[in-house]
Amino acid sequence: MIAQALKWAGDVDGFLELVDQRRLPAEFVKLQCRDTGQLYEAIKTLAVRGAPAIGVAAAYGLVLGMQKPTPDDSLEQAMQILGQSCEYLASARPTAVNLFWATERIRRRAEEFVAGQPEATAVTLREFVLSEANAICAEDVDMCRRIGVNGQKFIKEDSGILTHCNAGALATAGQGTALSVMFEAHNKGRRFKVYADETRPLLQGARLTAWELQRAGIDVSVICDNMAGWLMAQDKINAVITGADRIAANGDTANKIGTYSLSILAREHGIPFYIAAPSSTFDLSIRTGAEIPIEQRSADEVTKFAGTQTAPDGVDVYNPAFDVTQARDITAIITERGVIENPNIDSVAECLVSYE
Ligand code: MRU
Repeated sequence: MIAQALKWAGDVDGFLELVDQRRLPAEFVKLQCRDTGQLYEAIKTLAVRGAPAIGVAAAYGLVLGMQKPTPDDSLEQAMQILGQSCEYLASARPTAVNLFWATERIRRRAEEFVAGQPEATAVTLREFVLSEANAICAEDVDMCRRIGVNGQKFIKEDSGILTHCNAGALATAGQGTALSVMFEAHNKGRRFKVYADETRPLLQGARLTAWELQRAGIDVSVICDNMAGWLMAQDKINAVITGADRIAANGDTANKIGTYSLSILAREHGIPFYIAAPSSTFDLSIRTGAEIPIEQRSADEVTKFAGTQTAPDGVDVYNPAFDVTQARDITAIITERGVIENPNIDSVAECLVSYE
């Protein structure tokens, strides 16, 4: 059964219910976010994580931001609060573009709504924002499924697939991106084995990907991150498939730290390297991956392992959460709009623009 990472409960006065991913796999616990402060914390501390999921969560967060009555409940105040909530939630994490894509889309559509509706009020605006958040959520579910359908052919019978971090249902509103490809291949009855990198420092691969694949009945082995090259040398890996946090116009792709090393290892061993991502993860405003901001996270994540201190007090730490894989090392990007083989500035534009 596929997990549902998040769900809006109720009407405009409702709340956002999240699976608390910090506590998996030991505990399956739901978290209720009832204001933007709680949601900001949930995004920052990775209770909800994965590029598409944080975009959808932030979209619903804008509804939460509009729930408190303002002094005169005017439309102007409601628009101002919407703008402030956009800025606030977008500042929770810097790399995944879906966060900015979702908040900016709602801000822009809200402006159009107000401009086109002379009778608009704070109440109707709030309803409009909820309907937009619902639309973003539903589109994500659909995009995930299409990515799986478009990408399943890359998983051959009896093959070994390597993945990194978690690009599963937990990272989206639907059935994931990289894992959606695996779920669809599995649904077709294909047999294959997945190696899930544990993904230090926060272990999204071991904790979340292994949990999702095991529940789905897909053969999965967890490996430490430093084992990938050796598995490739032993011909155990036939394809690498990961998700993405932001894809530049030329196809350069930011994803969880460690993805870049895998792309180099895959090239060296002649193994195809696939990125699975929805169109909402593309940032056509930047030309190359060099412009993607990389989140730096706290030293604690590196100096402790599951709460136990593993490095000396006061030691210096460098902890970038993402890296950038060069387009030339990506065999194809699997999107809901089609597969971009040999991604470059022209093939990316052709796929994203020609679809409309
Ligand atoms: O720090 P995280 O756990 O949010 O990082 C997530 C990833 O790197 C995923 O691979 C990416 O967001 C794609 S999720 C479909």
